[in-house]
Amino acid sequence: MKTIAVFTSGGDSPGMNACVRAVVRTALSKELKVFGIRYGYEGMIEGDMVEMDASSVANIIHRGGTILKTARSKRFMTIEGRQQAKAELEKRGIEGVVAIGGDGTFRGAVVFSEICPIPFIGCPGTIDNDLAGTDYTIGFDTAINTAVEAVDRIRDTAESHNRVFIVEVMGRDAGLIALYSGIGSGAEGILIPESPNDLQVVLNRLANSRSGKQSKIIVVAEGDEAGGAFKVGDAVKANFPELDVRVTVLGHIQRGGAPTCMERVNASRMGYAAVDALLNGQSHEMVGIINNKIAFTPFKDAVKHILEPDKALLRMVSVLAR
Ligand code: F6P
Repeated sequence: MKTIAVFTSGGDSPGMNACVRAVVRTALSKELKVFGIRYGYEGMIEGDMVEMDASSVANIIHRGGTILKTARSKRFMTIEGRQQAKAELEKRGIEGVVAIGGDGTFRGAVVFSEICPIPFIGCPGTIDNDLAGTDYTIGFDTAINTAVEAVDRIRDTAESHNRVFIVEVMGRDAGLIALYSGIGSGAEGILIPESPNDLQVVLNRLANSRSGKQSKIIVVAEGDEAGGAFKVGDAVKANFPELDVRVTVLGHIQRGGAPTCMERVNASRMGYAAVDALLNGQSHEMVGIINNKIAFTPFKDAVKHILEPDKALLRMVSVLAR
């Protein structure tokens, strides 16, 4: 293998840059030529690729977002798009690709493999932490810290006014950001899509909540079956007209910002391992970190959503959230 490429795809996440840096510098240390593909699969189709050197990834380890840009490509879903992408990779002699992204990115790589034999290795880049085969995805740690910091601020004003705040965090299909940021901020209620009927549990808890505690925080994953923070706010108001309820949607604030140190270290480890895996002849596997050790999982297994909530954590929430 003499030439590889790296790209970021899907929703950006803090730590993607650290991973790109690790891929580029590891590849260069093995005397590989390395291309950065801009705008994910869309750039692959367009041939939007630049050769990277050590300085092209200087001073990016601390920056959120992705210097390679990102996109969600509709054209890559067509066979014509994928054929064009294959031709663009072949034109540059690219013999291996590191894909940094989430489930859509890896599903794309699996479909692409039907027409293109070039090996792909994935690094999990998504704030949602919704991939199997890794304890943490790149971006999750930063996102939960951002969310906790925001909820801490909301707690101050909620406490001053004796209000109930419903705070919506990201997670279209997965509730891990809500679960972790809810636990970390001491929320009185946490609503996640993996746990149906949790709205009723939270309403019961509000009904039985200890007297004296006048402010409350309920953290809701955007994908919760109750329908998001505004719907939850309506349900709380309907059941407790005496409460002063406010709704805050944190939104894309959670996707930006400087990655935490843990994120930078994990992203560096994964990018470094991804290049080694390509050179070892591995293909269509995602690098993960399980119990603090590098582990590999086939793409087709990594994209299986974790539907089971962590029951032990939920039991703990039911004891601590009062
Ligand atoms: O990055 C994952 C995610 O944050 C989801 O939780 C969220 O629903 C989605 O991205 C929104 O992304 P966009 O606004 O880019 O479509």
